[in-house]
Amino acid sequence: MKYSVDWIDDHVRMLDQRLLPHEEQYLDLTTSDEVAEAICNMTVRGAPAIGVAAAYGVVLAAQGAPETERETAVRRALDVLGQTRPTAVNLFASLRRMNRVLDECPGEGLLDALTREALSIHQEEIEASQHISKAGASLIPHGATVLTHCNAGMIATAAHGTAIGIILEAHRQGKIRLIIVSETRPLLQGARLTAWELVRAGAPATLICDSMVGHVMSRGHIDCVVVGADRIASNGDVANKIGTYSIAVLARAHHIPFYVAAPYSTIDTSIRDGDSIEIEQRNATEVVELSGQRVAADGVQVYNPAFDVTPHHLVTAIISERGILKAPFRRGLKTLAGNPGGRRK
Ligand code: MRU
Repeated sequence: MKYSVDWIDDHVRMLDQRLLPHEEQYLDLTTSDEVAEAICNMTVRGAPAIGVAAAYGVVLAAQGAPETERETAVRRALDVLGQTRPTAVNLFASLRRMNRVLDECPGEGLLDALTREALSIHQEEIEASQHISKAGASLIPHGATVLTHCNAGMIATAAHGTAIGIILEAHRQGKIRLIIVSETRPLLQGARLTAWELVRAGAPATLICDSMVGHVMSRGHIDCVVVGADRIASNGDVANKIGTYSIAVLARAHHIPFYVAAPYSTIDTSIRDGDSIEIEQRNATEVVELSGQRVAADGVQVYNPAFDVTPHHLVTAIISERGILKAPFRRGLKTLAGNPGGRRK
């Protein structure tokens, strides 16, 4: 198994990210409903990986239906998968592409056409993350200590990773002194997943609680921040895991560059700014419990937004496979939209 999500012969195989770092278990999924459930319960997570999984989910729907009912089954799957998680735009970008195939190739060749499209969505993510890793590593200074939040690595992309791809490429180039990983409450993607990926890769990683970021920055211990994204608006506002905005504010206060790495599929040119990004609200149990153990006082109310929006003026650069953008982002993102192959470094 090469990636966290893969198409194996006639089904989807995915790493169950909920069990990490204790168990590395792969699940074989054969229906689109199973894929939808896996996205909702975060068996698969991370914006690009969700997009890839959803595309394969549509193929499963087509495959499981007799030819006369295929179109209806695919439409239903598009609908169900589209209601799984609202913030990461890669999901909707993938489903839009699968929908286009349905519109253009109804009938006999539909299953093959959908399979080809899903495989190319995945392949494009793989290539994008390779380009992002190389381009982004050029921004990392020699001897750097880099902070990253949440998990934007291999498992989040079903590819080579975006933020973690950059950090590991810089590590291969001998530039990294240390990677500071913020734990990422409530679901601990930093502590459970990023720490696991970095330790496996033999990279020097130190875990801190989210509340320690300001202190660590104030002591001059961080040279730059690199994070992923779930959706980037036309003006460069960035939705990413809850806590990212606080880190960006702290980075600005300490004059530390704040880099966002994301494939072009994460850029949503249909929205003007981050105010239009729907922020997923998740279950209260994620906040009141730690590993299934209640830690909060009974009866307390909970607020659990899964993402926040970092305004573009706090972002130093956006690194995509189409190039590295600095402010003003609106103009740059518009140029990238018309330049699918270009400006790769
Ligand atoms: O709720 P999650 O774990 O799916 O959130 C993931 C993130 O916020 C990642 O930083 C983002 O999707 C980028 S992954 C390359």
